[in-house]
Amino acid sequence: MKNLSMVILAAGKGKRMASDKPKVLHTLGGLPFLQRVVNSALKLNPKNIHVIHGNGGDIVKSELEHLPVNWVKQEHQLGTGHAVQQALPSIDEDEQVLILYGDVPLISSETLGCLLEAAPSQGIGLLVAEVNNPDGLGRIIRDQSNNIVKIVEHKDANEEQLKIHEINTGILTCPASLLKTWLPQLKNKNQQGEYYLTDVVSMAVIEKIPVIGVKALCPMEALGVNDLCQLSELERFYQYQRARYHALQGVRIADLNRLDIRGDETAIGKGTLLEPNVILDGKIEIGENAYIGPGVVLKNTTVGDGVRIEANSVIEGAVIANYCQVGPFARLRPGTVLEHHAKVGNFVETKKTIIGEGSKASHLTYLGDAVIGKDVNIGAGTITCNYDGVNKSTTQIHDNAFIGSNSSLVAPISIGKGATVGAGSTLTQDAPDNALTLGRNRQRTIQGWKRPTKKKKIEETS
Ligand code: UD1
Ligand code: CA
Repeated sequence: MKNLSMVILAAGKGKRMASDKPKVLHTLGGLPFLQRVVNSALKLNPKNIHVIHGNGGDIVKSELEHLPVNWVKQEHQLGTGHAVQQALPSIDEDEQVLILYGDVPLISSETLGCLLEAAPSQGIGLLVAEVNNPDGLGRIIRDQSNNIVKIVEHKDANEEQLKIHEINTGILTCPASLLKTWLPQLKNKNQQGEYYLTDVVSMAVIEKIPVIGVKALCPMEALGVNDLCQLSELERFYQYQRARYHALQGVRIADLNRLDIRGDETAIGKGTLLEPNVILDGKIEIGENAYIGPGVVLKNTTVGDGVRIEANSVIEGAVIANYCQVGPFARLRPGTVLEHHAKVGNFVETKKTIIGEGSKASHLTYLGDAVIGKDVNIGAGTITCNYDGVNKSTTQIHDNAFIGSNSSLVAPISIGKGATVGAGSTLTQDAPDNALTLGRNRQRTIQGWKRPTKKKKIEETS
């Protein structure tokens, strides 16, 4: 086997995206296009991946610097052929080259593997697709014996050619030696005044070098994104596939069209039900037989078995153990840990807080920088006052404590085991174990007190 070098074209302007952001940094399923292409490329173990970048300065490179690739700058975007040429000095004569496009984000390593296998050793393997709407794409022109003879860009095509639905995906493979002879000969005499990579096909045909078209395993994965409409369509396609995958693994998804998974580390256990409009972002692990209510947003979160997360809860950076209950309308922020059977109800916000086994904060509460033991009851309206404007301090609430409603616990503070805090207390000092602590004024009644009354206007008579 020859060494394989990949070249990913990512320097174009992406003018049709009507966006200030370079096209390949736009995301699909939560990951930048270019990152997706590199991920697929890496699965084929290439010797090198050269990424051609350039438009918009070094933004693409600086945002994706962590990728294991060789960055090659194309100063002026003179076309796809010119772009590939920039990488040739870093590629040896005896290598096989696979050219990928940074704006074809869903290309799979399986399809690329098929292309490499089918490609002639001394010729071109071209990834083609049959699509319903070939608008804007290069058309594959075949002769009477069905051999590929050239590629015509949409803008250069005549009426007959525009009727063709077989398109060039842009992705092709060929020996480096051939590219090294062909690319310097490209001309830019076309509608766009660009050096088209696609012209190597007609060069091969003239030299009687074989050109083999290979169909993508699924035409959608080979489609490029040129504008935000195409991106939205591709995103929906991708999301549907992800939802289908999980459904076939035993996850009940109420509506396959109303689930969004962003990122590629999602595990969901069998028997779990996802209601419509759930968003799963980043690294997500959900156990078995859990319930994720409508409109729930989970980001970088672990959810145990049998957990119920009710509608419209927003949860980030949390670990939720088995059989907990959350929401509706709960907000769990990073560093939240719920231990078995804990409950966080509506309009409760937590941050960097551990809620112990069986403990409950059922309504209208803020718990920040708190460590809460087992079987604690946090009354409605409880606030941990964790911030003095400069420092964050911790609240400790020990096992079996009961915090009366509308209490403010001014941290640093510790509430003892089995302690009871009377409703409406503001505590600034620790509360001892097993006692009732009150931090509020005694109630008093003033007998005979008169409520002010409005003066009646004296009616004017004339
Ligand atoms: C290209 C193909 C077309 C194919 C389509 C598939 C050519 C001439 N045309 O057209 O046959 O059907 O892709 O999606 O190749 N780029 C650079 N430097 C440049 C120009 C482009 O790096 O100077 C990069 C872009 O960032 C992009 C890719 O090459 O990732 C394709 O460029 P684009 O302008 O989108 O080509 P299309 O018109 O889509
Ligand atoms: Ca394109």
